[in-house]
Amino acid sequence: MGKLKPGESFVLALSGGLLAVFAVLFLLGVTHRFPGAGLTLKYYHLTPQAQRGYAFMVAQGCRQCHMIMGQGTTTAGPVLDGEGTRRSARWLTAFFNDPGAVVARTLHNGKYATAFRRYTPQEKREMVAFLEGLRSLPGADTYPAPPGQ
Ligand code: HEC
Repeated sequence: MGKLKPGESFVLALSGGLLAVFAVLFLLGVTHRFPGAGLTLKYYHLTPQAQRGYAFMVAQGCRQCHMIMGQGTTTAGPVLDGEGTRRSARWLTAFFNDPGAVVARTLHNGKYATAFRRYTPQEKREMVAFLEGLRSLPGADTYPAPPGQ
């Protein structure tokens, strides 16, 4: 490439500058329209105990009915991503100990979906630790909605 004439480098600098200004305005517009843009709205906090819970749940086939860390199915059961934001460890523990006491007409009755009865307390603790680590921020599709929505 030959040497640029003074007029050419001015035009080049000007268009580069305008491009940068438009890029910034565009990004500002996008983040204004979608407040969460650029953030990771679902996040996972996995301790070693939680990782054992994850491996256990995968082995138990929970993903046949649940979406977990973006994998599985949403046709049969609720998406479990965001479960740590939606439910407390206490709720989850109660659910694993006696689903019927927490969810009326639960399908986790051993006929349709898994009966948690046969799991050991340690296996349940690991599953709770894992589900507690599946978090979501406002704006995520898995963020809890007020009742009735
Ligand atoms: C055959 C389908 C099926 C399988 C397999 C299944 N689930 Fe479910 N699960 C459901 C359905 C349906 C619900 C909706 C609530 C109910 O019926 O209790 C549910 C609800 C839940 C909930 C409560 C979600 C909430 O916030 O309300 C948890 C936690 C859960 N399941 C964990 C598990 C785990 C852990 C496994 C694997 C050991 C598993 N599920 C396997 C169908 C299934």
